[in-house]
Amino acid sequence: MRKVKVAVLGATGAVGEELLELLIERNFPFSEIRALASKRSAGKVLEVKGHKFTVEEATPEAFSGIDIAFFCAGGSVSQQLAHEAVKRGAVVIDNTSAFRMDKDVPLVVPEVNPEDVKWHKGIIANPNCSTIIMTVALGPLEKHFGLDRIIVSTYQAVSGAGVKGMEELRTEVEDPDYEAQVLPVASLPKHYRIAYNLIPQIDVFDKEGYTKEEWKMVNETRKMLHREDLGITATTVRVPVMRCHSESVYVELKKDFTLDEVRKVLSEAKGVQIQDDIENQIYPMPLFLEKKDDIYVGRIRRDLHNPRGLNLWIVGDQVRKGAALNAVQIGEILLAH
Ligand SMILES: NC(=O)c1ccc[n+]([C@@H]2O[C@H](COP(=O)([O-])OP(=O)(O)OC[C@H]3O[C@@H](n4cnc5c(N)ncnc54)[C@H](OP(=O)(O)O)[C@@H]3O)[C@@H](O)[C@H]2O)c1
Repeated sequence: MRKVKVAVLGATGAVGEELLELLIERNFPFSEIRALASKRSAGKVLEVKGHKFTVEEATPEAFSGIDIAFFCAGGSVSQQLAHEAVKRGAVVIDNTSAFRMDKDVPLVVPEVNPEDVKWHKGIIANPNCSTIIMTVALGPLEKHFGLDRIIVSTYQAVSGAGVKGMEELRTEVEDPDYEAQVLPVASLPKHYRIAYNLIPQIDVFDKEGYTKEEWKMVNETRKMLHREDLGITATTVRVPVMRCHSESVYVELKKDFTLDEVRKVLSEAKGVQIQDDIENQIYPMPLFLEKKDDIYVGRIRRDLHNPRGLNLWIVGDQVRKGAALNAVQIGEILLAH
């Protein structure tokens, strides 16, 4: 396989660091990796799995000669630099929300809609982390039974707010007098402690009372499943967990089902592991699933009122499968084509 030149923009962040690790671990065929971040980090040396990367400032010229650029430095940075990278010949795989709902940009989870990679015009978007974790499990159910309605509540880790979110939880646990500055949304005037708490707000509210994060789960799921009519509602909550998002999902299927059929479909699905043995208290938990590639499903049970209703508990490492791994897998599809 031809070796490619890769850039990781946001290399000093939570997702960027995971991406560097995965490119090495999965033997991604790179001849060079350019680690890019803000001016603040230029010259910093990152050591990842025995490789050293000297961080360079992300400028348009930094993408000259790059074949694949992984963007994970935030939406406004993607808006500024993605087209510059494409102009210079790179394919951009973007982890931010900048282009996800753009009709010219495919939004891809490799286990769900890998075929959409083919129609890219230079930029491919990686979905929101909670959406990826949910659709890896629900994609196969859509194929076999059809989905009618989804009601999801999330329990999202602080690393979803990046390095600063993790630092804030650590500091609060050690210092009861520390005043929160990052969560729920750094740019808003009010901040709340996350230690020994939970916060029912991720990102800003709209006039209907939903947050942007909740809208992402609605719109991105519809786009990936090619189901504009899909009835979906979400409540997204930040919890004092360091890493891995959990989701309580109620889903109504279009066809009758037995729980054995559901278990069979999920057990055969790519990227899904079932952890569901209540007699032995086996179910997925975030603390034990850090750094796992797959998403885990448990507490599989039929609704008490609607015979086509199904309850699931889903957990996945959102820095890994919810961001970095999904992006690297998209890169692997590009290379295979
Ligand atoms: N964390 C997650 O679970 C997750 C999951 C899915 C998607 N995402 C998305 O991925 C992106 C990165 O998230 P993260 O959690 O990794 O954030 P993070 O830990 O805060 O890291 C942000 C990165 O962006 C760089 N950066 C910031 N401003 C920049 C600028 N003006 N020019 C160039 N680089 C700049 C930072 O570099 P410096 O160190 O130099 O400041 C750092 O490398 C966000 O869009 C986020 O929504 C995150």
